[in-house]
Amino acid sequence: MNILNLRPVAHAVHNLNNDYDMRIPQKFLHLGLLGIVVIVASAIWTMITPSNYGGIGLIVGIVMLLPAVITRVVTNTANNRRFQVRDGIVDHANLRGDEQILDIGVGSGITLFGCAKQLKTGKGIGIDIYNPNAGGGTPDIFWKNAHKEGVADRVELKNMDARKMSFADESFDVVVSTFAFHHVGNEESRRKASQEIVRVLKPGGKVLVYDVGFALNELEQVMRESGFSVQRHGERFSMVMGEKSA
Ligand SMILES: C[S@@+](CC[C@H](N)C(=O)[O-])C[C@H]1O[C@@H](n2cnc3c(N)ncnc32)[C@H](O)[C@@H]1O
Repeated sequence: MNILNLRPVAHAVHNLNNDYDMRIPQKFLHLGLLGIVVIVASAIWTMITPSNYGGIGLIVGIVMLLPAVITRVVTNTANNRRFQVRDGIVDHANLRGDEQILDIGVGSGITLFGCAKQLKTGKGIGIDIYNPNAGGGTPDIFWKNAHKEGVADRVELKNMDARKMSFADESFDVVVSTFAFHHVGNEESRRKASQEIVRVLKPGGKVLVYDVGFALNELEQVMRESGFSVQRHGERFSMVMGEKSA
């Protein structure tokens, strides 16, 4: 089945009052606030002097505001898609209910909690470093969502870098990740994170990762080098699925 042939999102997920919105990166927020100051100052300047500089200031202020506004519009538009991706991952994970699941760059928990709902005796662990410029939210938002989704007893959150995990080898049955790999860093960082995923996955375990295509090349390559069976769907946005030989 092609993961990009995603099923419609059940309306129930929107009624939980959960908060999975991606956050505006802090650097864009700061730039935007400065933009507002520039716009207000330019407007006052235009009122009290006859010069043209007020108009230039207005344009500069608007340009400074744009990254925050564009991010907000794009992330709002993408929300439905994010629920579809999470449901697609849950479908493909095909969980029995006793698995140990790891979510890399878990953010506010959307993907981990979708998986955790299928667990009976298993556990879902999310790791994140909560980079304020990566839009992933906060531990507080993670736990609020965990309670709203009814999975707080089945999940854990660890402040841990994907490039250097403290888990023992072969700890997890399933590793998932959504929209996080492009934030992990450059090619070398993404390769390190990929090697860590291979290390902590049990024999026969599955990897299901979705992100912008360019950010998943290293993961695909590292899994192939490690003898995984690998499938990849999509180019601009890709789903990479791997299975470690048993
Ligand atoms: C765009 S958010 C995606 C969050 C969530 N997976 C989702 O789909 O909503 C990316 C997350 O990756 C996290 N992240 C970035 N680099 C990381 C690293 N080296 N290790 C762990 N998490 C990282 C960021 O802090 C952020 O919370």
